[in-house]
Amino acid sequence: PGLDVLAKRAGLLYFGTAIDNVVLNNTAYVTIAHNRSEFGQVTPSNGLKWMYTEPSRNVFNYTMANEIIKPAIKAHQIRRCHTFVWHNQLPDWLTSKNYTKPELIGILENHIKHEARAYYDKCYAWDVVNEAFNDDGTLRDDLWLQTIGPEYIELAFRFARKYTSPWTRLYYNDYGIERVNNKSLALQKVVKDFVKRGVPIDGVGLQAHFTVGRAPSYNDTRSALNLFTKLGLETALTELDVRVDLPDTAAKQKTQADVYAASVKACVDEESCVGVTVWDFWDPVSWVPSTFPGYGNACLWDDALKRKPAYYAISDMLRDE
Ligand code: G3I
Repeated sequence: PGLDVLAKRAGLLYFGTAIDNVVLNNTAYVTIAHNRSEFGQVTPSNGLKWMYTEPSRNVFNYTMANEIIKPAIKAHQIRRCHTFVWHNQLPDWLTSKNYTKPELIGILENHIKHEARAYYDKCYAWDVVNEAFNDDGTLRDDLWLQTIGPEYIELAFRFARKYTSPWTRLYYNDYGIERVNNKSLALQKVVKDFVKRGVPIDGVGLQAHFTVGRAPSYNDTRSALNLFTKLGLETALTELDVRVDLPDTAAKQKTQADVYAASVKACVDEESCVGVTVWDFWDPVSWVPSTFPGYGNACLWDDALKRKPAYYAISDMLRDE
């Protein structure tokens, strides 16, 4: 049995992966990516981001996203949709002009409306807002904050609820919140206020981009998940990968395997955590080497498309649950 089969037996809703368009011509890769036994859930790594879905104002394009979403539907893999609002991968028309606050709110609603309707019954969850916080717990000083103010987060969730299906889970998603720290506590405060005031939020996604030697422990991740369990929200690990300081060694692969297994176990054991998504499963297509020169080998399958010790560590842990 593959990881999704074992994850479901252990009580999770899914074990999933992100998939990027650049590698869709590789049949061996695609066969694993849409193998329902390994992955019961799929996230398009890029195709649903603003620069691709609304490349010109009010002109929508779902070509890239559909290259991943359609085969996922066919393979009966549930879909996490990523993402409505982010500071990154925005189209030029949006970043190169100074819009007024009412204009930008209108642009935000129109964007969410079109994307949400296009995927009305196709997304288990949407990452409504992605990476809005700095590590110190303040809000990121981006286009949204500068023009709309802090209420852009709440507005995005309200627009998402208005246009997605009632059963679509609406998530806030971020990195660096896999410990109890300034960032996760600041987020918890905002989410608590949302829950109190009826702002429609259903879940919090912990991205879980980790590094061998510096990764949060099982207890760290559980405590972080619990910040949101306590508020009655759903949680998930949405972008799990564990990068290695190259050159790789057997010892580093062993530590990496332990980090992967402990992270997945934290989700299995935490009542609110519905599933784990790895941010791609194949080392050569990982985002890590281009962003962190000198680091790599962050995934579960190696260059030769062979399963690594980390794969077997997750599999063994899930069998024991
Ligand atoms: O679209 C162009 C294409 O036209 C061109 O031919 C190609 C040549 O390199 O580049 C393409 O753009 C790349 C894009 O991915 C699509 O493949 C960008 O250069 C590249 O920077 C971009 O990287 C993505 C990154 O987000 C952007 O910040 C990664 O693939 C994607 O995995 C990564 O995902 C993020 C999550 O959304 C949020 N959390 C962190 C995570 C990792 O950074």
